[in-house]
Amino acid sequence: MATSYWDYIRVEDLLELQNGLEEDEAPLSNHEVLFVTVHQVFELWFKLILRELSTLRDFFNQDNVPEQDMALAAESLGRISTILNVAVKHFEVVETLHTRDYLDFRDKLFPASGFQSAQMREMEIILGLPDDERIGMGSASGYMQALRGVDGKGSSALDRVESRKADMPSLKAAVGEWLYRTPIRGSQPGDENDDAVVDGFLKDYLAQYEQAVERLKTHIRATVGEVADPDAFDRQYAREIESTAAFCQGDSPRERRIRAAIIFIESYRELPLLAWPRKVLARIVEMEQQLVMFRQRHARMVERVIGRRTGTGGSAGVDYLDQTATTYRIFKDLWAVRTIQIRRDDLPPLDEKGYYEFRAT
Ligand code: HEM
Repeated sequence: MATSYWDYIRVEDLLELQNGLEEDEAPLSNHEVLFVTVHQVFELWFKLILRELSTLRDFFNQDNVPEQDMALAAESLGRISTILNVAVKHFEVVETLHTRDYLDFRDKLFPASGFQSAQMREMEIILGLPDDERIGMGSASGYMQALRGVDGKGSSALDRVESRKADMPSLKAAVGEWLYRTPIRGSQPGDENDDAVVDGFLKDYLAQYEQAVERLKTHIRATVGEVADPDAFDRQYAREIESTAAFCQGDSPRERRIRAAIIFIESYRELPLLAWPRKVLARIVEMEQQLVMFRQRHARMVERVIGRRTGTGGSAGVDYLDQTATTYRIFKDLWAVRTIQIRRDDLPPLDEKGYYEFRAT
C-alpha cells in the first residue's frame, strides 16, 4: 500500500499529544510544552530499549545459545548504550528551563513524578534489579503503589509493570544461566570432575593473583621508596587478596561457577570461541555504565533546576536520585572482575587452548 512520510510516521497523532492536562496546548507556556515533549522523547527511547532487552533476554534464555548470533547480541547491547548516551544529552534541553520557568507550572504536577515511569521500572525489572535492593522513597508503599492511579485504583502503568514482573527470567538471570554453562578448561557442568576442574582453575588463578599483588607491592616500594605506614600498606593489599578470594569462593557452587566463567572468559579472551562472549560481557558493562550515567546526569539536572527541595513524587529529591545512582547495580560480578584481573603474562597457562579454536562442523 502506497503511503506518505507524514502518514507512516503518524506525525499528526504525535503532534496532538503535548497538551498535558489541557484540552489543547494553546494555554500552555513554551516551557511546559518543552517539559512534556522531552519526557515523551525519553519514553520513546525507553520503549526501544525495552524491545532490545526483551529480545536479548530471549536469546540468552535458550538452552543452546547459538555462537553465530553472539555478534547480534553484542550489537543489540551496543544499540541500547547508544540510545542511552543520546537520551542523556536531552537533559541539556531540560536545563534551558530556569528554576522559575519550571515553578510556574510545577504545582499542578503533584503527586506526578518520573518515579511513576512504568517503562523505567520495566527496564530495571527485565535487567534484574531485585525488589529488596530498591531504595524506599520515604513512603512505605513503595514503587508499585506509586504506579496506581490518583484514586488508588489500578492503572495501565501498574499493569505494564506487573506483566513485566511476571515475564521472567530477567536478562541477568538468563545471562547467568549461559555463563554457568561456559566450558572452563574444556569442562562443562555435568562433566565428570567439573567441580574439580573449576576449583583447580580458581586456585591457580588466585595463586597467580597473589603473586601479582606481591610483585606490585615490591614495585611500589622500589619506586616510591619506603611507604609512610608499612602496616597499613600491607593491610590494604591483604584486604584486596581476601576480597578476591571471597569473590572466587562465591556464596554457592552455582555463583562460584558463574564467577569462574567470567574470570575465564576475560582471561583468555583472545581465543576464538571466547572473543565474542567477552565482547558481550564488555557491552553489558557499557550498557550498565550508560544507565548509571543517566541516573547521575538526571540528578545533576534536577539539582540545577529545583535545587535540593522535595520531589513532586515525595522523595528527598536529589539525595534520593544520587542514592539510586550509587546503589542500583545489576551486573555486579561483571564489574567486580575488573578489580581482580591480572596481566596476560601472569595468567595460569591453559593446556586446553585447542578446545577454544574454531572447529569445522
Ligand atoms: C525539570 C525537570 C525534572 C525534574 C525537576 C525532575 C525531578 C525528579 C525528582 C525530584 C525525582 C525523584 C522522585 C520524586 O520525588 O519526584 C525524579 C524521578 C525520576 N525522574 Fe525526573 N525530573 C525532571 C525531568 C525528568 C525527565 C526529562 C525524565 C526523563 C524520563 C525524568 C525521569 C525520571 C525518572 C525515571 C525518575 C525515577 C527515578 C528512580 O526512582 O530511580 N525526569 N525526577
